[in-house]
Amino acid sequence: MTNVIEFNQTLTVVGAQWGDEGKGRVIDYLAATGEWQYVARFNGGPNAGHSIHTLDSENKPIKHVVHHLPSGILNPNTKLVLGNGMVLDLERLLKEIEDLEKGGISFENRLFVSSHAHVILPSHLKADEENQKRLGSTGRGIGPAYADKINRSGIMLGDLYDLTTDQLTTMLGNKRAVPKFRKLLNRIEPYVRDVFWELTNAYQSGNKILFEGAQGLLLDIDNGTYPYVTSSNVFPSYAPLGVGITPAAVRRVLGIAKAFTSRVGTGPFPTEMAESDSTALREHAGEFGSTTGRPRRLGWLDLPLLSRMCVQGGISELALTRLDSLGIFESVPVCVNYTGMEKTHRMTFTKYLEGVTPEYTMMDGWGDVNFNNIQTYHQLPSAIRRYIDLIENQCRARVRYVSVGPLRHQMIEL
Ligand code: IMP
Repeated sequence: MTNVIEFNQTLTVVGAQWGDEGKGRVIDYLAATGEWQYVARFNGGPNAGHSIHTLDSENKPIKHVVHHLPSGILNPNTKLVLGNGMVLDLERLLKEIEDLEKGGISFENRLFVSSHAHVILPSHLKADEENQKRLGSTGRGIGPAYADKINRSGIMLGDLYDLTTDQLTTMLGNKRAVPKFRKLLNRIEPYVRDVFWELTNAYQSGNKILFEGAQGLLLDIDNGTYPYVTSSNVFPSYAPLGVGITPAAVRRVLGIAKAFTSRVGTGPFPTEMAESDSTALREHAGEFGSTTGRPRRLGWLDLPLLSRMCVQGGISELALTRLDSLGIFESVPVCVNYTGMEKTHRMTFTKYLEGVTPEYTMMDGWGDVNFNNIQTYHQLPSAIRRYIDLIENQCRARVRYVSVGPLRHQMIEL
């Protein structure tokens, strides 16, 4: 056992924009290499919708969308951890487990759910209806569950097992709901534990751990576009707290960024596209929320924002997703600067973003590229290379992966 770790022993993967960057497909790709013994989620809950695409034995595409479970599900040797920083909807979690079990995926001895994670209750779902109208929340009870946690009136998963029928009735607001809830608890019980021990022992024995962030850095409760944010910390700095491991465990951070920008819900969005462009891109790229099905708001790549998130989030490497989708445009605007807003010393980030005018540089489009035989940077079309160079120069992060489609083989490692 050692406390000295290698730089590469962990990798923290976070969305570098407003979520939906393609974290699921990147983490599935990384987990499939067999390099990572653990994939651990540290924040959020079923507001996330991480999509993983694969092929069945007859080469037909299958899409899995996981909301709680880490995106390492498809590699049977990868252990999966749901951290204490998450909020769990037990009914949805069990359905996720059972649906995947029907598809032949086993969770025995590989799924660990933190007994310290807080639980989303019917009252939280009800209270989130208002947030849905006001902020465009996903309506999954996330904000109210975190609010109760902070107010010390929430309930941790491990404590649910000790409640009496009367206490459960009060909590669920309905006595008839109790037997079904107890059944749910019993089904989940084999996976519940204090994950601190599981992960810390694994870490100290040299296992490689991938921390999977949900949402995107711009949705972080402390550093995002408040109040148009989620209710948890999304930044890599929260990963150790959200699974209960030493802060020394976070060293290397991979940011996932779309080649353009999208967001769902309300809030400032400086590079939001004109309706005609966003409609064309949305239809072409299928830009609808994986959790809610809502059409995503679409915008051009915003480098002032992405570079700020790289600096603030300690991102030294990027995976660029959906590059193929931009092929429908003859030229591609990229925001390289903001004008029109005098920043005062007391101005908040949100207020600033609400007032800025993006300054664009026009990049040549690359059309409908056949990426099948492209494996290196130099084989990429020159227009794409220039796009990548611009990102690397402004963000001071290396683009390590380029994804050009949802399947595992549609990833180019640069
Ligand atoms: P909540 O997390 O459901 O409270 O939603 C708060 C804000 O975060 C809303 O704008 C949501 O659309 C957004 N949000 C939450 N989770 C995700 C996600 O996984 N992807 C994209 N946006 C999200």
